[in-house]
Amino acid sequence: MTTKEKIISILEEHKGSYLSGEDIGKKLNISRAAVSKAIKELKNNGYTIDSINRKGHCIPHKSNTLSHIEIKKNLKFDNDIIIKDSVLSTNLDGKNYLLNNPKHGTVIVANEQNDGRGRKGRKFFSPKNTGIYMSIILKPHILLLENSLKITIATAVAISKAIDALCSKNTQIKWVNDIFLNNKKICGILTEAITDFETGSIENIVIGIGINFNTLDFPEELSHIAGSIFSQRVTPVNRNQLIAHIVNNLMDIIEDLENPEIIKIYREKSFLIGKDISFYERDSVVESTVLDIDSNGYLIVQDSNMIIRKLKSGEVSIKW
Ligand code: BTN
Repeated sequence: MTTKEKIISILEEHKGSYLSGEDIGKKLNISRAAVSKAIKELKNNGYTIDSINRKGHCIPHKSNTLSHIEIKKNLKFDNDIIIKDSVLSTNLDGKNYLLNNPKHGTVIVANEQNDGRGRKGRKFFSPKNTGIYMSIILKPHILLLENSLKITIATAVAISKAIDALCSKNTQIKWVNDIFLNNKKICGILTEAITDFETGSIENIVIGIGINFNTLDFPEELSHIAGSIFSQRVTPVNRNQLIAHIVNNLMDIIEDLENPEIIKIYREKSFLIGKDISFYERDSVVESTVLDIDSNGYLIVQDSNMIIRKLKSGEVSIKW
C-alpha cells in the first residue's frame, strides 16, 4: 500500500471522527508534514476529507469516496478489489491485468476514465466521482463462446436487481444489456471474452460496467438519452455499497447460468417488449414490434408484413 492508500484506510477505519496529523504520522511512522502533503494530494484526487485546524482530518459519514474497506465490508466473497483514481479504461486495465494471473472475481474500479469505451467503439462518458466504472475478471470453469449471450443477460439481471434492491428503484433492461431508469439509460455493459482458439472455450471474461450514479451534467448530445440513478449530490447509499452488491449478485448468478429464473426476471424487466424498434439487417433498416424474449434470450420481433424474426445479437433502436 502507498502512503496515500494507508492514510485513506486509517481515516476510513475512523470514518466520521477526526484524527490529528500527528496521530496519523505516528501510526505510519512518517512526519506530520508528509501526512499534510499526502492529504492535500488525496483531496486533489477527489477524496472527500474534512480538515479542521487543531482537530485533524476526517472522512465524513456521507462521503461517496471509493473505499477498499467499505467495498470489502459488504462483499460475500473474498474478491480482490483494485481501486484506481484515474484510468483510460478499466476494461483495458482488466485485460492487461490478466498477465498477472488474477483471481476469479477480481474487480478493478476507477474514479474516472479518460477513454471509457462502449460497444461498437463508442465512448462512454466517465466523469470523476459521480459514476461507477468497473471491470470484473471472471474465469469460468468451462464456457463455450456460443453461451456468451447468457453471461451478458445474467450480468444485466445482476446489476438491475442490485440497483433496485439497494437504491429502491425500478430499473428495466433494454435488450441486450443496457439498464434504463425512467426511460433513460443509466448503465452500459461491455463484455469482452478472451477465448482459446483451439478449444473455442472462454478462458477469461472481462465484464465492464459503467453506471451513472449521480452524474448530473451530461454533454449536450447525451442529455436526452442518459440519466442517473440519483439526481442529487448527497445520496442515500454510496458507490461502495452498490459496487459490492453488484459483485455479490454477479458472483452468484455466474455459477448458476442455466437457472431459468434468470430469463424470467430478464423478460419481466424488459424495456422493449411491446415497443416499436428498428435495427439493421444487411445494411437496410428493418422496423418491427418486439413481441417477446425467448428462453435463449433471443428477441422475437414482427415487422409490418407480419414476418417474425429472432434476433440473437446486435443492437436495436427504440422508436420513441
Ligand atoms: C455501452 O453502453 O455501450 C457499454 C459501456 C460500458 C462502459 C464500461 S465503464 C467500465 C468499463 N471500461 C470501459 O472502458 N467500458 C466499460
